Amino acid sequence: MTPAESRVILEVSDLCVDYASSSGTAKAVDQVSFELSEGEFLAVVGESGCGKSTLLFAIARLLSPPAEVSDGKVVFSGQNMVAMSDKALRALRWRDLSVVMQSAMNALNPVSSIRAQFFDAMKAHGESDPKVARARSQEVLSMVGIDPVHLASYAHQLSGGMRQRAMIAMALLFSPELILMDEPTSALDVVAQRSLMVQIKQLQAELGFAIIFVTHDMSLVSHFSDRVAVMYAGQVVETRPTRSLFDNPLHPYTRGLLDSFPSVYGPKVLVEGIPGSPPDLTDLPVGCNFSPRCPRATERCSAGEPALCEFDDALVRCVLYEGGTAGGD
Ligand SMILES: Nc1ncnc2c1ncn2[C@@H]1O[C@H](COP(=O)(O)OP(=O)(O)OP(=O)(O)O)[C@@H](O)[C@H]1O
Ligand SMILES: [Mg+2]
Repeated sequence: MTPAESRVILEVSDLCVDYASSSGTAKAVDQVSFELSEGEFLAVVGESGCGKSTLLFAIARLLSPPAEVSDGKVVFSGQNMVAMSDKALRALRWRDLSVVMQSAMNALNPVSSIRAQFFDAMKAHGESDPKVARARSQEVLSMVGIDPVHLASYAHQLSGGMRQRAMIAMALLFSPELILMDEPTSALDVVAQRSLMVQIKQLQAELGFAIIFVTHDMSLVSHFSDRVAVMYAGQVVETRPTRSLFDNPLHPYTRGLLDSFPSVYGPKVLVEGIPGSPPDLTDLPVGCNFSPRCPRATERCSAGEPALCEFDDALVRCVLYEGGTAGGD
């Protein structure tokens, strides 16, 4: 099933998140719009500090001050999460939407067993029969390849890979429709990372949940995602099916990002970084945020902010693609 044929479960439109501070307001997420279909795997990539985690936290309504959603909507299963009451939100979390963070060591409670934490989550959603809770906890642990005896374990008794798996098991307790993952494998060694990714994909194929997966790792993106959203300075500058994005990146930033990663298969070439560094989010350049670093920038780029344009199978925020035609290669 291609995303175009399947049901849209999440619609993010013009989402803006600001961090207010004495030195100014940082626009960490700026007019972000995208849709996610059921069962889809969307990767969110971009340099450190470009707003990936803030975007994920905003979608899950997990932001805390000084972060604030200043505009936009996050419509999940027909409800606007931004305007939802805390009570409605509590009912929805875990059951329909769950979150897996980068470090399970921080997300898991160090003084409670895995069982106690799983039972608490189930109880919070009305499942107070210990027999049912035990059976489901054992089932989800087995799904992620952990022996259910570890229900009695504490986080520090598990390896890093097992802790991340336990977090994923917890995220699966209620078979949610959407799981948000913020670099869930980045603390693991390459072998553990690979095996966890394969497992996530298998579970997704079996259970059909959609994933938004934040990562720095372009090789994970190319192997595991269906679609990619590239972020730069708080904005999504290109959204495209993964294969097309890797075959023919459109936005000059996406091109730079791909050139910054060594190819596993292609000929050996010198890896080029992107010169310069991302802008200060409290003091953005006039016009396109990327123009000061862009090898293809012209005067047009500082004249005004580029609109999000449809081009081929992509949405791209660059004047080169305005009007659906490429402005020369
Ligand atoms: N607690 C905070 N207070 C003020 N500004 C913040 C805070 N947290 C984040 N920011 C701002 O938001 C921007 C985006 O941060 P975010 O953590 O979302 O980036 P990221 O893309 O997830 O980075 P990384 O790849 O390093 O995890 C930062 O560049 C910073 O300007
Ligand atoms: Mg982050």
